[in-house]
Amino acid sequence: MENEAAWKVAYWAFAWALLAAAAVSGSLGWRAIRQEKLERHARLMNQAVILIVLFLVSYPIKLALLGREDLGTWSEAARVMLRSHEAAVAVMLIAGGLARWLARRFGKAGRNLADASMSDRSRHRRLGRAALVMSFVGLGTAAAVLVGMILRLP
Ligand code: HEM
Repeated sequence: MENEAAWKVAYWAFAWALLAAAAVSGSLGWRAIRQEKLERHARLMNQAVILIVLFLVSYPIKLALLGREDLGTWSEAARVMLRSHEAAVAVMLIAGGLARWLARRFGKAGRNLADASMSDRSRHRRLGRAALVMSFVGLGTAAAVLVGMILRLP
């Protein structure tokens, strides 16, 4: 159905905008911690997490209303791009989720930071950086997937 394909593209454009907003928020959060603005860092990173959660809530709704994509009509290259995108997002979710989970030990807006272990701090830093890098890989690959979907519109 022509209309359904257009709605799917509209949904993925919305999902891309959410991921872009999360990546911008994460980048500003990274800049904030480099400037030692701890409270601002925590706020911006929590905002990025909320944007990603919004996507995770919207996706099952999309599946229920519009179903899955018909990959049978996609080229091999488009399918490889989709798989790369899914892998980048999976790494982002795992690394970002663990970074956020470790941050709970730093207390609200980092008030208990002095009590946190150096290994938790360094793990948080490395996982957080990985999540940020993968959010941009996810964004770039998502843009390629989206352009492919638009070009395949009937
Ligand atoms: C998913 C959410 C989060 C991500 C992705 C994230 C990411 C990062 C990144 C990339 C760094 C390293 C900056 C650098 O040195 O290059 C960092 C450091 C830090 N973050 Fe987060 N962060 C998150 C949430 C939080 C929260 C909620 C807090 C609570 C206050 C927090 C506290 C800190 C602290 C204290 C550091 C400095 C660590 C140190 O060097 O001791 N972060 N974070």
